[in-house]
Amino acid sequence: MDQTSLLWLFVSSLLFCTTNQASLTVSPSRSQMFKGEFVSLSCEEDDSSAGWKLRRNTTRDTRKECEDGWGIPAGSSCNISYMLPWDSGVYWCESREGATSNRINITVTGKIRLWS
Ligand SMILES: *[C@@H]1O[C@H](CO)[C@@H](O)[C@H](O)[C@H]1NC(C)=O
Ligand SMILES: *[C@@H]1O[C@H](CO)[C@@H](O)[C@H](O)[C@H]1NC(C)=O
Ligand SMILES: *[C@@H]1O[C@H](CO)[C@@H](O)[C@H](O)[C@H]1NC(C)=O
Repeated sequence: MDQTSLLWLFVSSLLFCTTNQASLTVSPSRSQMFKGEFVSLSCEEDDSSAGWKLRRNTTRDTRKECEDGWGIPAGSSCNISYMLPWDSGVYWCESREGATSNRINITVTGKIRLWS
């Protein structure tokens, strides 16, 4: 390989790394949730072809994907229609290649929210 192709390899690997990112957003945007709440989790990604999926660790699940039963998946998003205390845990987005987003800790209290 000559110097030009080495440089090209370097630049393209940099480009690959910087575009292969996602950030997790949660709505409502707080880490304290209430039992019964509707929560929407979304991977804001630069490259949807990377196959970003929501995963979580809770006391019951390890690295479990949204479509494996804890939420309603839609592409790189996931909704939980009724939060329960055992949905407490750490949530993140992971691409097919294993790249990860920021992590968000969510805690669900057992009390139903009585105000809105
Ligand atoms: C999820 O749990 C696995 C197994 O305990 C651990 O290896 C991994 O680091 C955890 N992920 C996060 C984001 O905490
Ligand atoms: C998840 O919730 C968001 C916000 O309410 C909505 O726009 C989206 O269509 C929902 N997706 C699914 C798969 O239900
Ligand atoms: C999230 O939870 C993990 C495990 O319980 C903890 O180690 C970490 O400090 C928490 N992070 C934040 C930002 O609260």
